Amino acid sequence: MMTLTLTHLRALEILDSRGRPTLQVEAGLSNGARAVAQVPSGASTGTHEAHEWRDGGTRYGGKGVLGAVRHVTEIFAPALRGGAVEDQRAFDGRLLAIDGTPDKSRTGANAVLGISCAVARAVAAARGEPLYRTLALGGPRLPMPMINIFSGGMHAGGNVEFQDFLIIPHGLPTMAEALAAAVRIHGAAGELVRRSGYVLTGVADEGGWGPWLPGNEEALSLLTAAIAEAGYTPGGEVSIAIDVASTHFYREGRYHLASEKRSLTGTEMVELLEGWCSRFPVVSIEDGLAEDDWEGWVRLTKRLGHVQLVGDDLFTTNGERLRRGLECGAANAVLVKMNQIGTLTETLDVCRQARDGGYRAVISARSGETEDSFLADLATATGAGQIKIGSVTRSERLAKYNRLLELEGWDGLSF
Ligand code: PGA
Ligand code: ZN
Repeated sequence: MMTLTLTHLRALEILDSRGRPTLQVEAGLSNGARAVAQVPSGASTGTHEAHEWRDGGTRYGGKGVLGAVRHVTEIFAPALRGGAVEDQRAFDGRLLAIDGTPDKSRTGANAVLGISCAVARAVAAARGEPLYRTLALGGPRLPMPMINIFSGGMHAGGNVEFQDFLIIPHGLPTMAEALAAAVRIHGAAGELVRRSGYVLTGVADEGGWGPWLPGNEEALSLLTAAIAEAGYTPGGEVSIAIDVASTHFYREGRYHLASEKRSLTGTEMVELLEGWCSRFPVVSIEDGLAEDDWEGWVRLTKRLGHVQLVGDDLFTTNGERLRRGLECGAANAVLVKMNQIGTLTETLDVCRQARDGGYRAVISARSGETEDSFLADLATATGAGQIKIGSVTRSERLAKYNRLLELEGWDGLSF
């Protein structure tokens, strides 16, 4: 068989689900196959993420990505044209060498990721196989979704501090039934908020409700009640996950819960979370402590290790940081976001590293998303077992859920 090579690479500034510029990249191969990938972008970003290129200046409030577009067409395209593409590790290695910085700050992790994903998808197209097969790591296996019902923090105008209150419909046997349950619970939760007299101002960045509540615990009470009202047993078929995203309300050693007019020490945060786990069916906690509080994380893991403790800002999909966590026993799961690190190969390496170290992995979208469904195939390909996309409204979320439905309904894959 002829070696597949890259014949063309181009990029375009498009808009994400918040109306902010992001990147679309197209790769074309020697057999005529072409594919496009779109890059997501976070709001509650971790300090240790790879560098996302933004133009600065006044256009789009400084958030334009025309510089990243230029890097794709003027730096990467000439250097990569004619090169082999089927060995993704070797190809991504060339991307890293061209950028040449540890955090991809010369060309931008958004430029690098767009190329890495577009090329993988073009290879899948060239071979006539589904993307999850091209990416195969431990799968194919459908991931259990972790679905946002209530949003807070930076995704909902700071109504409450904790960022995500999610459900895990682990007792439902199929993706179709799991999503049907999520839709019922999302509806019941909205009704419950209205009936309780709270102000509900539409949905937040990830499609969950962003109600004004008197405190963080009220979101948990309402969610537990909504699960029951929708006809499911809280903790039976459907459990709760939270993303505290605590880095974003941590200042000078304390966690500031402005909605509750109090601030907590790290020890008090651990006690709060422990109390919630005993009173509510919470089975997963993300970023319960701040991104650089390694000692706190070790204590949290000793106390609450029976619960899934996910590091997002803590690890930022970075192999070095995950190694440190594995060595000292911080967290027991890693959130995997491709654009935190910048290439597909590094993303898959983190999944492998987690699996080998006995940590779980949750493949995750960003709060700023596009209609690209790449993530659904990635989660399926890794066999990671879990995916976090947001809620069951807003088409940038549904693009991924609908792809998962397709993988179940047409490709015959299962949990
Ligand atoms: P972000 O939020 O994309 O705004 O970082 C998602 C998350 O924290 O999990
Ligand atoms: Zn998070």
